[in-house]
Amino acid sequence: MKIGVLISGRGSNMVSIATACAAPDFPAEVAVVVADTPAAAGLEKAAAMGVATAVVAPGEFADRGAFEDALANTLAGHGAEGVCLAGFMRILTGRFLDRFPGKVLNIHPSLLPAFPGLDVQQKALDHGVRFSGCTVHFVTEAMDAGPIIVQAAVPVLEADDADALAARILEQEHSVYPEAVRLFAEGRLRVVGRRVIVDTK
Ligand code: GAR
Repeated sequence: MKIGVLISGRGSNMVSIATACAAPDFPAEVAVVVADTPAAAGLEKAAAMGVATAVVAPGEFADRGAFEDALANTLAGHGAEGVCLAGFMRILTGRFLDRFPGKVLNIHPSLLPAFPGLDVQQKALDHGVRFSGCTVHFVTEAMDAGPIIVQAAVPVLEADDADALAARILEQEHSVYPEAVRLFAEGRLRVVGRRVIVDTK
């Protein structure tokens, strides 16, 4: 399955997905990496891996709808059937999601439904939870609320600041996102209500 990866910044999750996809037995390939800003450091990392890149910046379009159309057209133009949001810091509306129904994944650095939104490592620290982690989920119009595909938990240590906790979570992100993409590309994920059932091979 060809997938497109959307990024806004560093792109370390994109690299973990592209690295997994480069293995000969992996059921997906990255068709294109698209950033919403030319400043996204991940663009150079993708190019260095031989992956096609594109920039679709919202400022170049009259409104959000035109931006989302261009984003979807760029992905479709590269043959992407599925889309992975990997540190893509924008909310996508139904207009975009309807172009890839049930085929848009996101990774979020908390154990959803706890701590949706931004600055979530600090929110986890402030709340005093003993565990946090990451979640890969299907994207729906409600932010960070779609059906959960995989999660990984990490302990929150008393000496942690947000950066230390983020680094511990990120290590898990790099392992669970490629695994979720594998299950997705193998067609093994079935959404039943809010639950995602993983079919055995
Ligand atoms: C990751 O921690 C990802 O979970 C988070 O941004 C970081 C991107 O890092 N995403 C969100 O907060 C989405 N709301 P990366 O660019 O190195 O993959």
